[in-house]
Amino acid sequence: MTFFRGTFGALAVFATSVWFGLPSTPQDAVGPHGATPIDVQERRLDALRIGDGSAMPPGVDPEMWKIHQPEDNAIDPARVALGRKLFFDARLSRDASVSCATCHDVVRGFGDARPASEGIDGQVGRRNAPPTMNLFAVAPAFWDGRSATLEVQAIQPLVNPIEMGMPSHDAVVAKLKDIPEYPPLFRAAYGRDPNIADTGRALAAFQRMLVFLGAPFDRWRGGAADAMSESERRGFALYEGKARCATCHPLNASHPVGTDNLFHNTGVSADKRDFEKLVRKVLLALDYGNSTADVDHLALATDMGELGRFVVTKRRHDIGAFRTPQVRNVAVTAPYMHDGSMATLWDVVDHYNKGGIDNPFLDGGIEALALSEAEIDDLVAFLFALTDDRLAGPKSKAREAQYERSRTVRPFRDVDAASRRRSGFASRVFDEKDAGK
Ligand code: HEC
Ligand code: HEC
Repeated sequence: MTFFRGTFGALAVFATSVWFGLPSTPQDAVGPHGATPIDVQERRLDALRIGDGSAMPPGVDPEMWKIHQPEDNAIDPARVALGRKLFFDARLSRDASVSCATCHDVVRGFGDARPASEGIDGQVGRRNAPPTMNLFAVAPAFWDGRSATLEVQAIQPLVNPIEMGMPSHDAVVAKLKDIPEYPPLFRAAYGRDPNIADTGRALAAFQRMLVFLGAPFDRWRGGAADAMSESERRGFALYEGKARCATCHPLNASHPVGTDNLFHNTGVSADKRDFEKLVRKVLLALDYGNSTADVDHLALATDMGELGRFVVTKRRHDIGAFRTPQVRNVAVTAPYMHDGSMATLWDVVDHYNKGGIDNPFLDGGIEALALSEAEIDDLVAFLFALTDDRLAGPKSKAREAQYERSRTVRPFRDVDAASRRRSGFASRVFDEKDAGK
């Protein structure tokens, strides 16, 4: 029995590190739930030199920054410092083993590098942890947008039974009041004793400072012609043109991180779900309760979460729709999609190339693209060029691992995609362009 468990444990770790290209050198010790130990994460964060809250983070357009600042939570150093402390503090979970940084691990691109996250008692949820980078420009929060703001979002995991598992927000506040360091920090930050709303505010203030917008793409767009290779530049042209990525992932002054902040059904995992059956289940379940905690539970711990935005709005056109994620720094945030079902960026592009997975609620913007293998490589190269320079080390490791895997394993590839006739829209627009019209 012990032998079996040991063997399986070792195999599981081995499989994970092969699959995601996780670092496996001895200095990468592992803390509770497989996360990087907090002291290692904190040192890494220091090395990343994020702002302390006394000024706007570099790389952000001042106008955009202003638009996204909530009136009751202006950035300041005391708030950012308090938020940082809370972010790494496992004492805020029921068994003191889980902090925000367990699943939003600084060393793993502020995610956890696994398909779905693990919370207290080793419980595994159904969704992939998105990175907490660049969230100043992303809203509403969560894959299904069930939290309007970062401030409101931040207090959900504390009481979610499969994440940090605290019995109530009152219990969180009582704990904060009991820990001698916190009351003075709260008073310095917000002029009040610890309370749940300010806990959310401080966590949001800290996360808004995690800005990573200094990529080769930005230098290229700023005029440095050689900041992107030819392949990356061809990839950008595809991104904006034939591959139609920019329709949902726009990258421009008003959309700096590559999301339209809207919800779309691209068919991820649609082939594995009976949407209609799930709809009936959700409507029944929400008849009995419809609180924030109920929806949070449905989304994270049941198969009904596969309905995405529908669980929040109960509108049929939202079935299977998820908020477009940012594309910034995707190099270091594998695996991909709301369920973490894609291991590489080649898999992601393969998914789009064949026109997503057909289902009655597929977004109108998704159709077969007819990209050649060379075009797929260029598009992926461009996605890697969206990585902040401070993450260049993890980026090149990830590129090697993903490239390696993509040469042999391509589960989402459709061998006919490149020869398939493009749909009316694509052939009209792009054939005319090709013909120089
Ligand atoms: C057990 C793992 C886990 C813990 C602990 C955890 N998160 Fe998350 N986080 C996730 C997962 C999974 C999601 C995606 C859930 C969804 O969208 O339904 C998420 C989503 C988020 C988002 C939304 C990002 C976006 O793009 O919309 C933010 C912000 C966030 N978490 C911050 C935090 C903070 C702050 C804490 C600590 C108070 C925390 N998380 C604790 C796993 C975790
Ligand atoms: C119709 C809108 C739409 C179009 C067009 C689109 N995307 Fe997406 N993209 C989404 C949505 C929505 C998701 C999340 C889907 C899910 O998880 O179910 C997503 C997910 C992704 C992800 C995963 C990010 C992560 O953190 O998990 C990447 C990478 C991505 N898209 C890149 C692209 C590229 C490259 C193209 C062009 C070939 C493209 N997208 C076209 C809407 C779109």
